[in-house]
This record gives sequence, C-alpha cells and structure tokens, in this order.
Amino acid sequence: MSWLIQTFSSSIGKKLLMAVTGLSFIGFLAAHLAGNLTIYAGGAAFNTYAEKLHALGPILTVFELGLLVFALLHVITGITLFVQNFKARSVPYEKDRSAGGRTLSSVTMPYTGIIILGFVVFHLINFSFVDKSDRTIFEIVRSAFANPVYMIIYVVVMIIVALHVRHGFWSAFQTLGANHPKYMPALMVLSVIVGLMIGFGFGLLPIYLWTVR
Ligand code: HEM
Repeated sequence: MSWLIQTFSSSIGKKLLMAVTGLSFIGFLAAHLAGNLTIYAGGAAFNTYAEKLHALGPILTVFELGLLVFALLHVITGITLFVQNFKARSVPYEKDRSAGGRTLSSVTMPYTGIIILGFVVFHLINFSFVDKSDRTIFEIVRSAFANPVYMIIYVVVMIIVALHVRHGFWSAFQTLGANHPKYMPALMVLSVIVGLMIGFGFGLLPIYLWTVR
C-alpha cells in the first residue's frame, strides 16, 4: 500500500493520475454525448435511452461511484499540482510545461477546471437530483433550455469544456509517453478534433432545444 501512496505522492505519479482519470472522463463524455445525441431523434428516443440506462441498476451505481472517485482524485490532484507549481514560480517552469508550447487551453487549465467542477454540481442539481415523478427526463431538459439564460450558460461552458479537453487530451498522452517528435503533430491535430467534437457535439444541443422550445 505504501508503494502506492509513494508513487502518487511523486510529481510523475500525480501527473499519471491526472492522465488516467482525465482520459477516463473523456471516455465518459464521449458516451454521454452519444446518449444525448438521441435528443435529435425526439423526446421518445431520448426517454427510451435514459430508461435503458437506469435499467442497468447496480451496474450504473457502481459506474457512478467510480466516476465520483475519479472526479475527486482528478480535482484534488489538479489543485495539488497547481499549488506546487505556483510555489515554484521562481523557476521558469512554463518553458518546459508542454512540448506543444503555451496555448490558450494550456494556460487556462486550472481555471477552466474549476469552472467545470462548478458546472457539474449545477448540472447534477438540475438534471440528476431532480424530481422525475411527474415529468420525463426529456421534458426536464427541454424546459431547462427554453430559458435563454440557461441555454447561453451551457453554450459558454461547453466552449470551456472543449478547451480543457483539448489540452488535457494532449497532455495526458505526453505523460503516458507519446512525446516522440514523430507522433506529436498527429496528436496535436487529434486533440483539436476531440476538443471540437466535444464542444460542437454538446454545445449545439442547448441551441437546438432552445429553437424547438
Ligand atoms: C448539452 C450538454 C448536456 C446535456 C443536455 C446533458 C444532459 C444530462 C442529463 C439529462 C443527465 C441526467 C441523465 C439521467 O439521470 O437520466 C445528465 C447527467 C450527467 N451529466 Fe450531463 N449533459 C450535458 C453535458 C455534460 C457535460 C459537459 C458534463 C461533464 C463535464 C456532464 C456530466 C454529467 C454527469 C457527471 C451526469 C451524471 C451521470 C450519472 O449519474 O450517471 N454533462 N446529463
């Protein structure tokens, strides 16, 4: 057990933990997006998808608990790394921060991360921990996005999620050893594609639901 604590106390251990939990989240987001895309097929399709998901019962509960543990590990480790880097600011750390150089998405990682954390709490209060006894999940989602303020908040946050995922995807593969000059240009392109897919995939849904309100 102590070797595990020692591994994750080291700087590389923390980066590995960020990479593994972060990539798992990107996997969750891809699955969540695929499910949400059924919205375009109409309310019945989306409700059927949600019912099938909930019919998984204990499997879904285990998955949700795993997601929560990964979320806590990702956030706590991220804050620890941020504080460590902040304290070590006298060292010109930024130069070797990422072989991809400094980009908007790389320098804003701690801030976009905090916004996403706040968003997830807001999102769960609205769509997960809500009384579903008298309305279907589609009605709940549609009535939420009928409000333009809600729609705009979502679109802005989805741009922020896309920025976080863009750099996170790239950085995770760097940590896992894909920092060979041969792969880096392809990895950079792939990270932009993944970010765009998440941003447009999630971001267009609130706009669509607002237009069909
Ligand atoms: C347009 C964008 C989005 C829509 C319409 C949406 C919709 C929903 C809905 C309806 C649920 C509840 C499902 C149910 O209980 O049946 C849900 C759950 C959830 N969403 Fe989203 N979501 C969006 C974006 C996101 C994003 C960007 C994240 C993460 C950054 C996220 C994280 C979650 C999580 C963690 C849950 C709980 C999953 C579970 O308990 O199994 N969602 N979402």
